Amino acid sequence: MKKILVTGGAGYIGSHTVVDLIEAGYEVVVADNFHNSRPAALEGVRAITGKTVRHYDVDLADRDATLAMFAEHDFAGAIHFAAYKLVGESVDKPLEYYRNNLNSLLNVIEGLQLQGNSNLVFSSSCSVYGNADELPVTEDTPRKTAESPYAMTKQLGEDIISDYCKTRPDFKAILLRYFNPAGAHESGLIGEDPSNPPSNLVPVITGVAAGNLAFDKMTVFGTDYPTRDGSNVRDYIHVQDLARAHTLALEYVMGEKMKSNIDLFNLGIGDGLTVLEVIEAFEKVNGVKLNYELGARRAGDVVAVYADRTKATEVLGWEPQRGVDEIMRTAWAWETKANKAG
Ligand code: WQD
Repeated sequence: MKKILVTGGAGYIGSHTVVDLIEAGYEVVVADNFHNSRPAALEGVRAITGKTVRHYDVDLADRDATLAMFAEHDFAGAIHFAAYKLVGESVDKPLEYYRNNLNSLLNVIEGLQLQGNSNLVFSSSCSVYGNADELPVTEDTPRKTAESPYAMTKQLGEDIISDYCKTRPDFKAILLRYFNPAGAHESGLIGEDPSNPPSNLVPVITGVAAGNLAFDKMTVFGTDYPTRDGSNVRDYIHVQDLARAHTLALEYVMGEKMKSNIDLFNLGIGDGLTVLEVIEAFEKVNGVKLNYELGARRAGDVVAVYADRTKATEVLGWEPQRGVDEIMRTAWAWETKANKAG
């Protein structure tokens, strides 16, 4: 059985990907220091799959601790999720974002190479496109100025991997540019469960509606954008569809079909929704009225971004199965679950 390292495997996308990997027959080891996740996620993975994963509570920005973990295993591949990920927070805390996100990646690359193996799937982001001139964005759309330190750490992460691949033909990597992950596992046993109060749209919607947050009204950050209703456009992708894409990408990078030792894919459903349309879908699917107001723009936001996902479908055979209604149904079920940690 091939053994896979999943860094950030107790996180939102990470935990859903661990489930998909186990169900695909892989042995999984998780490295996660619970900076923005909880041990309950790994309990949820066990409840869904019946498997208890080996877990390291390691700070991946700590080189010695990270290399010590790699020394104990021979991973067939690694999926690197572990990073600070909030656009708004990164504007306020740039040094923490650069130090954590870049040092963690450097240590994971070194660990993979020290053990002689070299198949890496890297969690990148549509935010590398900045305010793209063309929509939908394809993998050939030029990256523009990063609109936040978070986006810059993803651009730099891609460049670090690309430069390293040039020097090491035996090092293979796939860069996955996510659009906006949302929703929760159909079992209701895992979902978005950040250690800190959420700032992403969907958990803010469900948190406000459920009365689980410190504020009882959500703010739409800007309705004066050049979009069909003035609010920002994003490509919302169900987290289970996103998880499936990671298993397919891992099999591609471990396989023999890559044309070179690096490739990249957009992971979005290929459709854009405005913030107001997302709110409308939430209210319609769940029969719940959301308390919200129209407010000022948020620093770091791009106007609109959504994917052309042709390449992931044609090369990886990836077909997203779920739309915004399933996102809202599963997100609400997760938020309102009686025994949700938090
Ligand atoms: C979405 C839209 C906000 C909260 C995310 C992740 C980032 C990366 C890219 C993967 C924006 C609006 C939000 C609120 C609002 N993902 N909004 N009121 O900024 O697109 O970035 O996707 O790598 O990790 O953070 O996502 O959910 O914060 O915002 O109006 O209370 O919702 O302005 O237009 P964003 P988001």
